[in-house]
Amino acid sequence: MRIDVVTIFPDYLAPLRLALVGKAIERGLVRATVHDLRTWTEDVHRSVDDAPYGGGAGMVMRPEPWWAALTDVLGEARGSARVIFPTPSGRRFDHAYAVELAQTQHLVFCCGRYEGIDQRVLDHWATDEISLGDYVLSGGEVAVLAIVEAVARLLPGTVGNAESITDDSFATGRLEGPVYTRPGSFAGAEVPAVLRGGDHLAIAAWRREQSLRRTRVRRPDLLDLKSAAEN
Ligand code: 6GU
Repeated sequence: MRIDVVTIFPDYLAPLRLALVGKAIERGLVRATVHDLRTWTEDVHRSVDDAPYGGGAGMVMRPEPWWAALTDVLGEARGSARVIFPTPSGRRFDHAYAVELAQTQHLVFCCGRYEGIDQRVLDHWATDEISLGDYVLSGGEVAVLAIVEAVARLLPGTVGNAESITDDSFATGRLEGPVYTRPGSFAGAEVPAVLRGGDHLAIAAWRREQSLRRTRVRRPDLLDLKSAAEN
């Protein structure tokens, strides 16, 4: 998978080189390039924003640098790439969306700042506008880190243990229950006896029950969705 990120804060994407995504890059499963949007400015101040037409607070990102950047970054690849704009007004990101993106060869992320990007850029280039949830971040960079991590761990050969993907919350439609490791007794609290008993059927049943209980309390909407899908 090829990943390009266009941003005015390239350093913000440094964590892409770490941990799971970093491993995927080392193994050649992912090729990631971070581009500074200001590379495509032509004025001495390298300005990327201007006042909004119609007035109002804040600044809007100008279309020219984005147009030049996307023309260069996409090059011949236009048509096969997903061109993604993280924005609180986008389609909500979730596991199914991550699976969809993991099947794409080329992802181009465009990080907006300020009040947003001139609509003509989105109308012409965007294949996806994605939101992480109902709150506002100052820019798309943190969202890109989250989306890339969620997608990269779905690529064959990244997580190392295929089971840990299929058992994940949201892949199963339920939250994962509690987990424990040694010591068996710690800070006055015991590891549940069933986990120490070695009865694998009993352990599986206990885990299912814990997972259901947690989902019922914290995310009843997931159970509603599941039963709706089964009906
Ligand atoms: Cl994807 N971007 C920004 N700027 N804010 C957000 C978001 C994305 N998702 C939730 N809030």
